[in-house]
Amino acid sequence: MSGAREQFGSRLGFILAAAGSAVGIGNLVGFPVGAAKNGGGAFLLMYAIFVFAICLPVMLAEMTVGRHAQKDPLGSYNQLSGNKPGWKIAGWLSILTPFMIAVFYLVITVWIFGYLFEAVTGDLDVLANPDTFGNFINSPKIFLYMAGVAAVVYLILQGGVKEGIEKAAKLLMPSLFIMLLLLVIFVLTRDNAMAGVEFYLIPDFSKITASVINGALAQAFFSLSLGMGIMITYGSYIAKEADVPNSAKLVAITDTAVAFTAGLMILPAIFSFNPDTNPAELSDSSIGMIFTFLPKIFLALQTSIGYLGASIVASLFFLLVFFAAITSLVSIFEVPVAALMDEKGVSRKKALGILGLLLVILGCFCALSFGFVDFFTSFTSYAGAEKSFFDVIYDVFYDTILPLNGFLICIFVIYRWKRHNFNEALHEGAPNYKGSLFERYVDISLGTFIPVILLVIFINTVCLKYF
Ligand code: PHE
Repeated sequence: MSGAREQFGSRLGFILAAAGSAVGIGNLVGFPVGAAKNGGGAFLLMYAIFVFAICLPVMLAEMTVGRHAQKDPLGSYNQLSGNKPGWKIAGWLSILTPFMIAVFYLVITVWIFGYLFEAVTGDLDVLANPDTFGNFINSPKIFLYMAGVAAVVYLILQGGVKEGIEKAAKLLMPSLFIMLLLLVIFVLTRDNAMAGVEFYLIPDFSKITASVINGALAQAFFSLSLGMGIMITYGSYIAKEADVPNSAKLVAITDTAVAFTAGLMILPAIFSFNPDTNPAELSDSSIGMIFTFLPKIFLALQTSIGYLGASIVASLFFLLVFFAAITSLVSIFEVPVAALMDEKGVSRKKALGILGLLLVILGCFCALSFGFVDFFTSFTSYAGAEKSFFDVIYDVFYDTILPLNGFLICIFVIYRWKRHNFNEALHEGAPNYKGSLFERYVDISLGTFIPVILLVIFINTVCLKYF
């Protein structure tokens, strides 16, 4: 590769791109429903503490490593560790993890794209039919939609950092905020909406159990796109003069604000469009909510605003989720692409071509995991259950490895790269950070309780999931 490293053109561009990564399916559906079912306001409070006290310092560590090394995650670990072989493993993990998460996130984005298409062109009755989702994910149409999503990701990423990722974020993120606000205003002005707001916000501290705490922290970690090499990679595209602590704070605030606001759309919609909703029916999985539950809710809306109105609301909703998913997918796929470019010196187009092909092939294997092909459907079994190819990728890379990667980056910056080097790098461009209380907190927490907590979550998950 020749020439200077690509960079984001502006601070706003960087923040919108990083927030675009952070705001995803998890924020729009997973968070609101999880919060409402697991203690309402009590969950929100705990989640906010986790975001700022545990996840934000990890985000600072990731961004600073990338910005200082000006390399992909593997190159960053190598450079800052002085090429220590042990740390190579951490480097490899932080490019393999995002690649594999990209595979399953691609499939989910493909389903969303398909539902968006069906909501715009087709029939709400069909989407609301309980058999539709099962048939949809096993229909050959999936591959057509996959080609569509892959083309969008390719088009954005081939433009590079400034003309591709940043331009897309500057267009998609403000549109996402506007659509979310429109939907919230519409929903909150409907009858019975307040029942949903109450269900979402009234605190119930008795629901806060050990597993809810574990889940809230995992959700916060995933939601801020940590442990996936993304913030290292995006950090490598910012200039030394940029204020990392401030930008990271803004990304965390935006992500949390979108998750919170999404709750003011989803729960009131459920209770107002379909007043007979039984809260016990709300599923724990985002997938179940997006593809089977919410279409029924949109259909119920037709009794008050007519079929066309209900279709417009449903289409707007799926477009919102699609925008959120595509900016996340772009960010996660950029990690291996950047690594191939940096480590092997290949051009962006070539890296995108090679990895894109691999991504789509593995994505097809995942898409064939739901009954299409036995080999992928009954791929293996553990903990007494049969697992598909999709399940394995989801369990291993999304559910298990993320906290391990978080643990490794904390230990790396404080004990390998060394605390003073990390702090010095962090000070560049951040005059107000130096000597602040926040600096003292980050400095202490990253070397002590944050890695311990992440390690405990990792070990706990391994024990519960596989044995
Ligand atoms: N933060 C994203 C979300 O909430 C997580 C994610 C980022 C997933 C990037 C995949 C890729 O959905």
